[in-house]
Amino acid sequence: MSKPLAFVLGTICLLASTSFGEDLDEDSPGFGYYGNPDNVGPPPHEWGANPLWRTCAVGREQSPIDIESKNTTLVINDIFGLDTSYVPANGAFYINQANILEVKLNGGGQLKIQQKTYYLKQFHFHSPSEHTIDGVRFPLELHLVHKSENGELAVIGIPFSYGEENAFLATFWDELPLLTDSHTSVNLMNVDLREPNLDMGPAYARYKGSLTTPPCTEQVTWTVILGQGNTVSERQMWTYSKRLQYSNARPVQKLNDREVKRSVRLLKLR
Ligand SMILES: *[C@@H]1O[C@H](CO)[C@@H](O)[C@H](O)[C@H]1NC(C)=O
Ligand SMILES: [Zn+2]
Repeated sequence: MSKPLAFVLGTICLLASTSFGEDLDEDSPGFGYYGNPDNVGPPPHEWGANPLWRTCAVGREQSPIDIESKNTTLVINDIFGLDTSYVPANGAFYINQANILEVKLNGGGQLKIQQKTYYLKQFHFHSPSEHTIDGVRFPLELHLVHKSENGELAVIGIPFSYGEENAFLATFWDELPLLTDSHTSVNLMNVDLREPNLDMGPAYARYKGSLTTPPCTEQVTWTVILGQGNTVSERQMWTYSKRLQYSNARPVQKLNDREVKRSVRLLKLR
C-alpha cells in the first residue's frame, strides 16, 4: 500500500496559463473565497455580479449542496450508474490562482454513466469540503472532473474524513511544499486513482448541479461518494494547510426542486 505509485520527475516549470477549479476555460478572470488575503477576485456571494458569471447568482441548479440522506431517492439496480475505468497517467501538479490545488492529467481514463462516456481531465481539492452530508462538513473534498466529447461535464466529489493516512494522496503529497507560488508546477508520473488507492464507496448520491467555481455553469452531472472509505491523516491535512491556509469551499446552495438520487455501487464484473 505504501509503494510509491506516482514518481516525481522533480521538474519545476512555469505554467504558461492559469486555470480554475472545475472550469476548463483558461481565460477566466480571477475570483476568491472568504478571508483570504491573497484573493485575486471577489468572494462567492459577489461572483454573480460579473456579467460573465450571472449563473452563479441566478442559477437554480447550483453546487455544492447539502445531501440530506433522508430526502434522497433510493435507486436500486443502477448497474450502469457509475463505471470508472481509470489508468495511471502523468500530470502537472500546481496551485491555481484561486488557491485550488490541482493536477491536470494527460490521459487518465474514463467514466461511464449509463451509456455516456466522459474523459478524466483533471482533479483538484477543496478544503473544507464543499458538499456536506446531513450537514456534516469534511476536512477535504476531491473533485474528479470529466468531460464528454461534446463538452458535457461529470464531476465525482469524494469527501475525506480524518483517519488513516490516505494512500492515494501519499503518492504525491510530499511534493506539495515544493509548490512555492501559484505558477509553479511539479510533474507527476503514473498518478493512479484506481481502487484501492481511492475508494469509490459502497454508495453514492447523484444530482444535477453546476461548477462550484465561476462561471457556475449548470448541467453538470454530480456524483458524491458516500461512506467513510476515504480518510486523510492529520499530518496530511497539516501538510496541506501549511501551503493552503484558507478555505476554498463555496457555501452550499439551495436544492430548489431538484431530486437527489442515492444508489448502491455494484461490483463491476470483468
Ligand atoms: C426534498 O427533495 C425534494 C425533491 O426530491 C425537494 O423538492 C425538496 O426541496 C427537498 N426537501 C428539502 C427539505 O430539502
Ligand atoms: Zn471543485
